[in-house]
Order: sequence, then structure tokens, then C-alpha cells
Amino acid sequence: MNNPESSDRGSWGSKIAFIFAASGSAIGLGSIWRFPLFVGLNGGAAFVFSYLLAVFFIGFTVMLAELTIGRHTRKNPVGAFNFIKPHTPWKLVGYMGVVTGVFILSYYSIIAGWAAGYFYKTITGAFRGQVSWNNSAAIFTKFAANPLEVLICLFIIIGLTSYVISKGVKGGIERWSKILMPVLFVLIIILAVRAVTLPGAGPGLSFYLKPDFSDFNLKVILFAIGQAFFSLSLGMGTMMTYGSYISKKDNLVSSAGWVCLSTTLIAILAGIIIFPTLFNTLQLTPDKFKQEFEVSTGLMFQVFPIIISKMPGGYFFGILFFALLLIAALTSTISMLEVPTAYLVDERKWSRTKAATLIGIVSFLLGIPSALSSGGVKFLTKFNYMIKMDLVFGNIMLAVGGLLISLFLVHTWKVKNALKEISHGNSRFWLKGLWVFDIKFLVPIAVIIILIFIKTLAG
Ligand code: PFF
Repeated sequence: MNNPESSDRGSWGSKIAFIFAASGSAIGLGSIWRFPLFVGLNGGAAFVFSYLLAVFFIGFTVMLAELTIGRHTRKNPVGAFNFIKPHTPWKLVGYMGVVTGVFILSYYSIIAGWAAGYFYKTITGAFRGQVSWNNSAAIFTKFAANPLEVLICLFIIIGLTSYVISKGVKGGIERWSKILMPVLFVLIIILAVRAVTLPGAGPGLSFYLKPDFSDFNLKVILFAIGQAFFSLSLGMGTMMTYGSYISKKDNLVSSAGWVCLSTTLIAILAGIIIFPTLFNTLQLTPDKFKQEFEVSTGLMFQVFPIIISKMPGGYFFGILFFALLLIAALTSTISMLEVPTAYLVDERKWSRTKAATLIGIVSFLLGIPSALSSGGVKFLTKFNYMIKMDLVFGNIMLAVGGLLISLFLVHTWKVKNALKEISHGNSRFWLKGLWVFDIKFLVPIAVIIILIFIKTLAG
């Protein structure tokens, strides 16, 4: 991506460059940490199944909407709304995205910091030899509750993110992520093969992939829609910003399709690693799991060291996995910070360095209570502060953002103008009818239902 500071905002080198960058934003802790966590909290396969539908019908629809608005206007979200409908409150939707981005960054960086901490722990041999569940759980609990360690990790993550953003995105990370994301993919496949070949993988797999209809309820579906927004980086203008750098020659529909597909695949594979390993280690059955097992935010961090310890060359695989996880997380934090930075640079004429530093400091300060809410400080832990932040910003605000973007496209910009933009680089849009139906009806109705039942979500 070229530096938006320049008068020529530039564009991605190619369609593939866009797909890598957008997948880099989408694929991250949302797929590897958050998805299995929500599967565990929401009845297993019923959630997986609802998530797949949510990605296809809602995620893909909103992604295409964001990319289309972004490419048409070639602007950051605030500028984009202002460009299509100047001097109206629509630009508030852009501001909402900017604020949501800062808040998500504040707690997401804690989990990214855990990945950094685990990378270090793996190097120093904390997971050498056979790792048992008790062992692994104890290591996580101790680490997450240590305020100093967690805050240092938070500082490192936000510092790195701000540094990269201040330099423009093109340089290091984008070039590296082109190599490292495929490596992550291959490594996750290797780990998944190991997990499904563990003795007793069956019950874990059936919890994960065999839907039991009694598990479906409104809460499961609502969280699955929230997860679709979160994992695909939708609802706060990230994809609008990324779309603003796509060339008119490129096909927006297939680009959106590839990003949705790659993100979903990584999420599904992450679950294929986690559940068979967990069920094997603790000799669980689906019923036992639902009745007795307490799913915590540390799920992924407790399970991965176990499967890695069961691999030949586990020490090496462990270091590689946590390094890649960290990079996947960083390509996402960078995209979150890019939205507020692009706004301050484009609209307020700040320098990139000043914008990235200031937002970095604000996110760090906002992240402190989240950092202390996994055992560090009692009342924040009891209040489940980080999970509450995730509920409000990671689920509700993104869904509201998606709703407003859809309403804007349909009622203000108009579907026919969007279709015209989509037609550049795409002579035949074969999902057109479905997309128009979804953006006009399905997305608004689904999100409005989420808002009506917020209490169910929070409960
Ligand atoms: N999609 C990222 C992930 O799943 O890790 C998180 C994210 C990035 C959400 C950027 C929202 C966003 F704008």
C-alpha cells in the first residue's frame, strides 16, 4: 500500500497483493483465538454451522459493500461518507469506525501480547517434554494474572503496531506477510493432521462438527453473526480503507470471496486442532464438556502447547507457531490502527508519525484495565472487563457499523451506483441477485434483531 500522505494515494500492486493484505487484516486472533473460544462457549457445531452461514450471507455482503464504497471514493471512512453525501451526519458512521478501532485495538493487543509472551516462553523451553493440561493451565493462569508481564507485552505490541503504521504499510510487514501467511497456513494444516490422528479425537471432532439441533438458539446465532463481522474485519471501515487502494481493473467480488474463504478456512482448522486435542487430553465427551468444562479466554493458549508437545520437533514447531500467530495478530492490529491514522492524515493533515504515536498512547491507556482483567485485579476479573469490551466493540459496534454501511449504500448511495462500481473489473456478477437481497433486507434485519436481543447476548 502506498503512503496515503502522498498526493497520489496509490494502489495495491495487484489483485493478489490486495487479497494478501486484506486476508492479513482478517486472519488473526479472531480466527485462531476467538473462534474456538466462542465455539466452546456456544454449543460447538451449532456455532460453527451458524458462523459459516453468517460469513456467506452477511460477511461477504458487507465486505463487498465496504470494498465498493472504498474503491469508488478512494478515501478513509470519514472522507468516504462525506464524498458521497457531503455535509450530512453520515460521516458520523466513519467517526464511529475510528473510535471502535481504537477500542478494539486496546484489548486485542492484550491477546496479541499473550502470543508474544508465549513465543518467548516457547523459546526459553517452558513447554519442553510432555505438557499436561494442568501444567498448561497453570502456566497460562500465572502469566495472564501477572500485571507487569502483561503490560510489558501490551506495550511491545502497541509500540510495534504504531511503528509500522508510522512508516507506511508497504515496507516490511506487507512483503513479509506474503511469505509468512502461507507458512502459517501450512503449519496449521500439519498441526490439524496431528490433532485428528490423536487417539480419542472422535468425540472432539463430533462436538465441533456434528450439529445437535438442541444446541441452536438465538444467542448462538447472534454471536456467530458478531464473529463473522469481527473475523472479517467488517463494520468499522477497515475494508473500506483497504478497498480504497484497489485498482479499477480488479474484480471486487472474487477478491471479497477469497478473503472470506481464507479466513474461514483458518478458523475451521484452528478448531480442528483445539477440540480433538482438548478432548483427548481430558478424555471428554461432548456431554461432559458441556456440563463440566469451563471455557476461558485462555483456551487456545492452554491447548496449543499440548498439541505441539505431541509433535516430533515440537520445540521448533512451537516457536514457529507462536511467531506466526504473533505476525498474524500484528497484521490485524496494523489494519485497526490504519483506520484512525488514515482519518487523521487525510482529513486533519497530521503526519503519520504523530497520528500513529498518539493513537498508540491512547490505546495503551485504554488497554490497561483489560490487561488487568485476567487475574491481575480482582474486581476487573470478576466483572469480566475484557470480555465486556469485546461484546460491546467486537460484536455490537461492528454489527451496528455494518448495518449503517448497508443502509447508506442502499438508501443514500443507491444499489445501482454500487453495481456500476462493482462492474469495473467484473463483467458478470453471478451472485448479484443474492447480494442485492442480502444488503437490502438480510443484513439490516439480522443486525436489528441483534440489537433487540442485546440483553440475551450480554446474559
Ligand atoms: N479480523 C481480525 C481478526 O480476526 O483477528 C480482527 C479485526 C481487524 C477486527 C480489523 C476489525 C478490524 F477492523
